[in-house]
Amino acid sequence: MSNIELIDRGRKSWEWANFHMGIINAIVSGNLGNKPLKGLKLGLSLHVTKETSVLVIAALKLGSKVSLCSANPLSVQEDVAAFLSSKGVEVYAWKNETDSEYSDNLNRVLETGPQIITDDGSNLHILAHNKKIQGILGGTEETTSGLTRLRALEDYGKLLYPVIGVNEARTKHLFDNRFGTGQSTVSSIINLTNILIAGKQIVVCGYGHVGKGVTTRLRGMGGIVTVVEVDPIRALEAYMEGYHVKKINEVVDKADIFITCTGQKNVIRNEHFKKMKNGVILANAGHFDNEIEVRKLFSNSSRRYSIKPYLDCLHIYGRKIFLLSSGRVVNLVGSDGNPPEVMAMSFANQLLSIMHIFRYYRRMKKKVYSVPENIDSVVAKLSLKYLGIGIDKLTPLQKKYAKSY
Ligand SMILES: NC(=O)c1ccc[n+]([C@@H]2O[C@H](COP(=O)([O-])OP(=O)(O)OC[C@H]3O[C@@H](n4cnc5c(N)ncnc54)[C@H](O)[C@@H]3O)[C@@H](O)[C@H]2O)c1
Repeated sequence: MSNIELIDRGRKSWEWANFHMGIINAIVSGNLGNKPLKGLKLGLSLHVTKETSVLVIAALKLGSKVSLCSANPLSVQEDVAAFLSSKGVEVYAWKNETDSEYSDNLNRVLETGPQIITDDGSNLHILAHNKKIQGILGGTEETTSGLTRLRALEDYGKLLYPVIGVNEARTKHLFDNRFGTGQSTVSSIINLTNILIAGKQIVVCGYGHVGKGVTTRLRGMGGIVTVVEVDPIRALEAYMEGYHVKKINEVVDKADIFITCTGQKNVIRNEHFKKMKNGVILANAGHFDNEIEVRKLFSNSSRRYSIKPYLDCLHIYGRKIFLLSSGRVVNLVGSDGNPPEVMAMSFANQLLSIMHIFRYYRRMKKKVYSVPENIDSVVAKLSLKYLGIGIDKLTPLQKKYAKSY
């Protein structure tokens, strides 16, 4: 496909996502007059998807310059990258980057001198810290795993600029992580394998926001779902939702499919590969490709081949194990990622948080902030408005009652 055709396809993809992300347009329209990001250099490390293009175009319209690399070497939608490039964005991303190309691209974004960094997973934040890059006013972080790392930096007293943890907005993790990732993970697994979910024994590791979304959808399609957890409260929640809850060793030889959603490493390990059923399918929905011990899976297998892109067959310990998207985040590698309706909410939080930092960075400390309550509430109200849903208000009497004792 020629570059012009790619740009045209990317523009149409942007149009499609933009149509479903009206609240971003509402924020842009409400702020076009004063261009609140005028003069800002924004450095992004996000999955290069059509939904991300809506955020990027919004930032450009509000006056920002933007450089962009991918949050994952396999998740780039090349038409989107070409379209954004044609709009003057410095794009350092292409599909199927090698690990070193991926890391070079992170460095290239830093070389553009970003003043605010918006990251998904915190690889760009950590690189900026390791290189002690000057001139960064603040940052935002999209996902659970990225925030874990930034909180660790903060705890060690090493955080160099204020960061807003966008994942902590209720209008982000209650919707994107749960409904968005729940749907896109299951649809990616089906897209890559075309297997029937009904009747399958499926183990979901992690019953957090993502795990809840994934399990609900699998159960709705007739899957027999077992949850593996380490947190007693989340384990009880899963149990009372009607799922089987077991230790991984109790189910390792029974499951047809394993899906990791934990944000932890080595959740499915070499010792488990030895006991799994012949033909088992492994997928990861967590941010990093370390939830399944993929390197051991590769190094201990006697034969490895691709059935199709991102569906690999490995011969190991006398059985076949099928690995999806090389153990990388399955919903972004195996298909298009989270749906635009939830990404509108996540990216509305991003856009408003970027505007907040650019306005208030002088009075912010080097710490990880939650998304300001008023931003979360604006995003919820705008979302309801765009869905055409009205809600009631407390009457004066009820307001008084709420404060009585
Ligand atoms: N694929 C996507 O589009 C997408 C979207 C949002 C979040 N994420 C990522 O998904 C992961 C989970 O996010 P979340 O918001 O659900 O986090 P969360 O903290 O709400 O849930 C994680 C759960 O995993 C459990 N857990 C941790 N270690 C475990 C282990 N060894 N075995 C079993 N359970 C274990 C925790 O107790 C917790 O309940 C993170 O890596 C996050 O960055 C991915």
